[in-house]
Amino acid sequence: MIVVFGSLNVDFFLKVKAFPKPGETVLTPRSVVRAGGKGANQAAAAAKAGARVEMIGAVGTDATASVALDSLRTAGVDCSGVLRMKDEPTGMAMITVDEKAENSIVVASGANAALTADAVPDALLTPDTVLVVQLETPVAEVSRVLRRAKEKGATTVLNAAPAAVVDEAVLKAADWVIVNETEAETLTGQKALSFEKAVSELAEKAGGNCILTAGAAGAVLCAGGRIVRAGTLPIRPVDTTGAGDCFVGVFAAMIDAKTPLPDALKAACAGAGLACLKTGAQDAQPSLSEIRRAASEIKIEIR
Ligand code: RIB
Repeated sequence: MIVVFGSLNVDFFLKVKAFPKPGETVLTPRSVVRAGGKGANQAAAAAKAGARVEMIGAVGTDATASVALDSLRTAGVDCSGVLRMKDEPTGMAMITVDEKAENSIVVASGANAALTADAVPDALLTPDTVLVVQLETPVAEVSRVLRRAKEKGATTVLNAAPAAVVDEAVLKAADWVIVNETEAETLTGQKALSFEKAVSELAEKAGGNCILTAGAAGAVLCAGGRIVRAGTLPIRPVDTTGAGDCFVGVFAAMIDAKTPLPDALKAACAGAGLACLKTGAQDAQPSLSEIRRAASEIKIEIR
């Protein structure tokens, strides 16, 4: 079973031709409101990829909370561990998407900033648990949950997003560290490393395994000193928001199902590619059968 400890947001999407410059105002016909948050996106992606998923997080008692919760429940995620905070608003993200389908995001954390590790009952952390965390909730609490889960024999997955400097102890509590290029630069403290060098360095630093996702350039995995490279689907992206979250959720579902690593990587790359074909993070996520079909198109190289 997968336990996701992380953020839930409501995303407001604004489509623009180009990102506004400082001091500039640009117009767009309308905004689109969707469920988001890195934690919730990963939980939903894992559930759609066939896993049993429990979400631990926090929302407010405001009207937008139901946007975040309804989407997760529809995906089949157990939300009984999501707290309702009386004095905090539900997390909110303003997402601008340009003509190239790139995004820029500002998150108002709200209830996510009040989430603590105590929200995760010990009973959920067992050797059969895959715990998935990100850095959109307080890092100290993420660290506490990771370390508790590791002590209890769970498999731990840290998606170090958004980019932040974290103690080596946090990395060491993760069996899997999943990063994009910016996050890899932040954690290694080095720019312009090759993908293979960056994943190898991070895997060594963490004393575990690492995956670097590189958008259109695919993904590179380092596990037990072995490198696996995967390509991407031949797609024309509409919106890349949440593609990385879909990658993490699908990968977690695959390791929960004990899928061999090269196949798990292919499935995650396929999921991330398919998630770029529609606006929104959770709304764009594929089903397990769609992932399986697309995964056969992903090229892989094992060293
Ligand atoms: O990774 C995409 C997510 O980042 C969005 O859903 C937004 O809520 C922010 O958390």
